[in-house]
This record gives sequence, structure tokens and C-alpha cells, in this order.
Amino acid sequence: MTIDRGRLAARLAEEEQRFREAHPRSRALYERAAHSLLGGVPMHWMVRWAGGFPVFVAEGEGAHLTDVDGHRYLDLCLGDTGAMTGHTPAATVEAVRAQAGRGFTFMLPTEDAVWVGEELARRFGLPFWQFALTATDANRFAIRLAREITGRRLIAVFNWCYHGTVDETFAVLCDGRTVTRDGNLGAPVDPALTTRVVEFNDVAALEAALAHGDVACVLAEPALTNVGIVHPEPGFHDALRAVTRRTGTLLIIDETHTICAGPGGYTRAHALEPDMLTVGKPIGGGVPGAAYGFSEAVAARVRARSRLDTADTGGIGGTLAANALATAAMRATLQHVLTEASYARTIPLAERFAAGVEQVIREESLPWIVKRLGCRAEYWFSPVAPRNGAEAAAAVDPELERYMHLAALNRGILLTPFHNMALFAPAVTDADVDRHTAVFRESVAALR
Ligand SMILES: Cc1ncc(COP(=O)(O)O)c(C=O)c1O
Repeated sequence: MTIDRGRLAARLAEEEQRFREAHPRSRALYERAAHSLLGGVPMHWMVRWAGGFPVFVAEGEGAHLTDVDGHRYLDLCLGDTGAMTGHTPAATVEAVRAQAGRGFTFMLPTEDAVWVGEELARRFGLPFWQFALTATDANRFAIRLAREITGRRLIAVFNWCYHGTVDETFAVLCDGRTVTRDGNLGAPVDPALTTRVVEFNDVAALEAALAHGDVACVLAEPALTNVGIVHPEPGFHDALRAVTRRTGTLLIIDETHTICAGPGGYTRAHALEPDMLTVGKPIGGGVPGAAYGFSEAVAARVRARSRLDTADTGGIGGTLAANALATAAMRATLQHVLTEASYARTIPLAERFAAGVEQVIREESLPWIVKRLGCRAEYWFSPVAPRNGAEAAAAVDPELERYMHLAALNRGILLTPFHNMALFAPAVTDADVDRHTAVFRESVAALR
């Protein structure tokens, strides 16, 4: 089947109308919010939800959330990974309740911080850790330290990467040149001055970008997840590690999304050996918390350049970073929630999702494919797997995506906005996954 664009536009209009009619309370809140919140939303990106306005949440529990109009959704977005554990994981809630009675923030460490540092070391194989509140900050701080200890100013990233609102990473390749990413608001400096962008899976380009010995670090997701899932080709990580070592460039692996691959992320699952590692989003069960870790060698170089009298103005850390509440949440989540047993449940759910969607794609002879990484899966409107960011970005079909998302939303399933991604919390059941397959089948059939 090929997609008839006229039919698609008509179906999308029907879904938009259905959405508006079914969400009067969300709509009223959105209209009220227009008077106090920029764009009617508390966070800029929320304007991008399919439907014209976001649903306002009443509550979430496990793999479901309920909106203010009383609709209950199977949540396969999970706060774009922030709630990968499912909403209100019992152990995290209990730890947060207990800590709430003992104080939220002191700018002093608690014993939980030591436990979390030890656990992160055990999981990711890097011995030393610092905490931040968001993965964005963890990346910013890691980049600073990389620059400091190498004495180099540039960083390298992969084309169409996303690592949070980190200025240096808002860059893409255009005709082989590094240019600012479309929509990069008020860029403090032209990213061409700070960043070399390389295509994922392109070893020759990586060699060329690092050959001058002026790049402090490569900041990389081990598999791209933010322009759809793009897996590394066999040997790519070996080459990445070899060339970074040879050129004295530090390798920072960002596991914020790829922690979907297992308890120690992609790094542990594939025996990677980064110099630094950053992680955020789900490690506090949804309570803001993030961390960045270092190898022994990096830690020694940082120590050699740290001064006591300027420790508070070095550009890393923050008043609320490592606060007692976040740290208690991270401990409980790592100890009891984001465990081997959890992945043993969620990875087969993602496999079942992929198999169901693939079955429909076959039935309908659609030129689409499905990709999976751990407990995350995603369908592509493309017959072949993109090898890099440029190919992935070229495969995006915004109108079709909007339709698929809204059709799912109108039938009680929330997908991650901005791409076709589904993430699985342990509370999801096989029946939930099969329900998604049925909705996917119905949405596609309506385009026939
Ligand atoms: C790989 C990766 N790193 C970092 C971030 C930033 O996370 P946060 O927005 O929580 O700071 C994201 C957000 O999507 C991400 O996907």
C-alpha cells in the first residue's frame, strides 16, 4: 500500500475534530493557561503534541495515566523516558515520603549519595561520580571537565543527536559543514566555532574530525534514539574507542535514553569503555536526578586541576544538585525498581510490540520497518533502517506521524511525541501491547 496523501489529510482532520470534542476540560485549561503561560503550556515543547493542545493530566499510576476529561491512557511515552519505571513506583514513592519528613535539601551529602555512587560504579564500570538535576546539566558539566583537562575547546557530536539543551550540541551537518540546528533560539555562539558534527557509523569522517588533536571529547549516544533508533554497525564502537584513544579525545557516552538496553545501559550490555558517562531521566523514578561518572584516569586529571577556594564557581554542580530528596529517589529506584527483573519483563514487551507492528506492516504491504533497543521500540516510515542521522531525518513524515499519534491518542494510547516511539514500563501487560497492535492495524486500515 502507498499512502494516499488526500486520504491521510482527511483522516487527520477527522481525528483532530474527534480529539477536540473529547477533551473539553483540557481545552478549557489550555485556553485559560494562554493568559499566564507562554503558549498556554508550562514548557515550550508541549505545544507540539498532536491534537492542537496537550491533554492535561489528572494522575498517573503504573503504565497508565488519566486526563482531566476522565480518559485513561496506556502510557507508552512515559514522560519521554523520565517515567520509564512506570508512574509512582512503590519503592520510590515510599523513599520520597520518608525523605520528605527528614528534609529535602541541605547542600550537604546524605548516606544515600554514597550508596548511589557505589551502585552507579557497579552498573557502569566507572569508579567516580557526581550528581546533577538533569541529563542536560550532566552533559554540560562533563563537557566542561573534558575541555578543562584536555585544554581543547572543540567537541564532536553525531549528526541529529540530542543531548538536552546543551548549546554546543545544537548543530547539524549541511553539505559537510557544521551549521546551527533549525530553531536554535538565541544561540550564544555559532556552533561551528565549538563543534564538529560527524555522521553516525562513519569511521572515516570521525577520523578526519579528530585528526587535528583539537577536540576535547566526543559526546555520543551509543545508539541514536532521538531521531529514531539508529543502531551502531558492527565494529563502529571499537573504531570510536580506538580513534578517540589515539587522538587523546575523551569519549563521553550519554546513557540517558539507552538505559533502556539494560540496568547498566548500552555500555554494560556491549562492554563499552567510555572515559565519562552521563545519565538522567529515569534514574530517580521520575524525580529529577542525573549523574556523570569518570574513569580513574579522568578523575585523577580533574583532581589535579581542582582548587578548594574556587570549587563553587567552577561551572559544574548547582545548589540543588545531589539534594537529599533526589538522592533518596535515585537510591530507591536503582535498588528496587530499575532492576534486572524489571528489564526481564519490559524487554519482551518491546519485542511483542515490534512483532505485532511488523505483522500489520506485512499484512498491509507497507514500506515501513520497526527498530528496537531493549525496552524501547519504534516504527519507521521507511523500507530500510537509516544508518545515520541524515538518513533518519530524511525518513520523517510529520503529517503521517501526527495522524498515527492522534489516532492512537483518541483510542487511549499515548506514544512519545516527535517520533513513533514506544517505551515499556513493567506494569504494561501483553494485553496492553496487543491492544496497541489492534489500534495500529485500525489506524493503518483507515488510510487504505
Ligand atoms: C540522550 C539524551 N541526553 C540528554 C537529554 C536531556 O535530558 P533532560 O531534558 O532531562 O535534561 C535527553 C533528553 O531527551 C536525551 O535524550
